[in-house]
Amino acid sequence: MSKEMKAVGLYQHLPITNEESLVDVTVPKPQASGQDLLVKIKAVSVNPVDTKVRANGDEEEEAKILGYDAAGIVEAVGEQVTSFQVGDEVYYAGSIARPGSNSEFQLVDERIAAKKPHTLSFKEAAALPLTSLTAWEALFERLNIPFNPSENQGKSILIINASGGVGSIAGQLAQLAGLTVIGTASREETITWAKDHGAAYTINHHRPLASQLEKAGFPQVDYIFCLSSTDQHWGAMVEAIKPQGKICSIVETDTNLNLTALQHKSATFVWEFMFTRPLFQTEDMQEQQNILHQLAKLIDDEKIKSTVTTTFTGLNAQNLRKAHEIVEEGKMIGKMVVETEE
Ligand SMILES: NC(=O)c1ccc[n+]([C@@H]2O[C@H](COP(=O)([O-])OP(=O)(O)OC[C@H]3O[C@@H](n4cnc5c(N)ncnc54)[C@H](OP(=O)(O)O)[C@@H]3O)[C@@H](O)[C@H]2O)c1
Repeated sequence: MSKEMKAVGLYQHLPITNEESLVDVTVPKPQASGQDLLVKIKAVSVNPVDTKVRANGDEEEEAKILGYDAAGIVEAVGEQVTSFQVGDEVYYAGSIARPGSNSEFQLVDERIAAKKPHTLSFKEAAALPLTSLTAWEALFERLNIPFNPSENQGKSILIINASGGVGSIAGQLAQLAGLTVIGTASREETITWAKDHGAAYTINHHRPLASQLEKAGFPQVDYIFCLSSTDQHWGAMVEAIKPQGKICSIVETDTNLNLTALQHKSATFVWEFMFTRPLFQTEDMQEQQNILHQLAKLIDDEKIKSTVTTTFTGLNAQNLRKAHEIVEEGKMIGKMVVETEE
């Protein structure tokens, strides 16, 4: 058996128009030990985090492999693995601190992986983990929304960027939990997509939000989930949140946020970072397996649908450069996947 594998990596952090920004490489094939699974990759998806990691950093001595979403087949298991066997079909986001999924094989800790939904192909499954973990952790843990429609009657959530990768899942989950979803979208295609993925109403994020919320009948909302520039939308969020409401953002800021602006409303602001659990190896790291397991059930029960809209076939540097270029344009609807050729 070969001791090497193909992967797509980078040595320099370059603009995507540079052919050296992502290159085809051959690297040692990793071996599973401890709680790791060795997964043969069948499909990956490309997220904005790939483009951010690619664009920023110092020169790398060894090829840095990106990719934070995968679906594949377990090829080998470490001696401490208890939940999986060779041959299991799995899906996961993985850890930002380890080599990514843009390779023939990848190691992932079993505590953050789950069996993929039976009813989905590998490419449909690969579109889900990162965005779904983010949306789930934000809605049901950081914002502490009960996943129970009878407890959310009359409650509303504003999702800023409702048609991108995270918004397409967050809208569906929030609707399933019984919230009225007001999503932001600025184009005809994204408005239609947002409404098909949980939004009861849409407003345009390139125009002032307050007057549009008023017109939609929701001058203030119970929750806000911000999936685009936190700086740009901060003032509108402070205005739109109800007294004692909760705001969660997943987008890093360029400036310090004025949290004092929330004091009179006793409103909460909380961050969500999907990689916190694997990065800090938190005691509750296994929660990501539980979330992915529950999500797979919701998918197989047809309560949530996959969000893949665009597919490339062939996990190579050329396709990944094209995929990064599209994601960087900031106009993605749903998710983009790159599947292997076999
Ligand atoms: N903290 C975490 O754990 C975490 C996890 C996942 C993602 N993120 C971050 O969250 C952000 C969203 O990720 P994503 O994958 O959902 O992005 P995405 O799929 O690339 O989002 C694309 C969408 O952004 C919308 N958009 C463009 N400009 C906007 C604006 N000014 N205000 C609101 N929406 C705007 C566009 O809608 P229109 O075409 O209708 O304008 C487009 O459909 C990224 O910055 C990503 O890095 C963080």
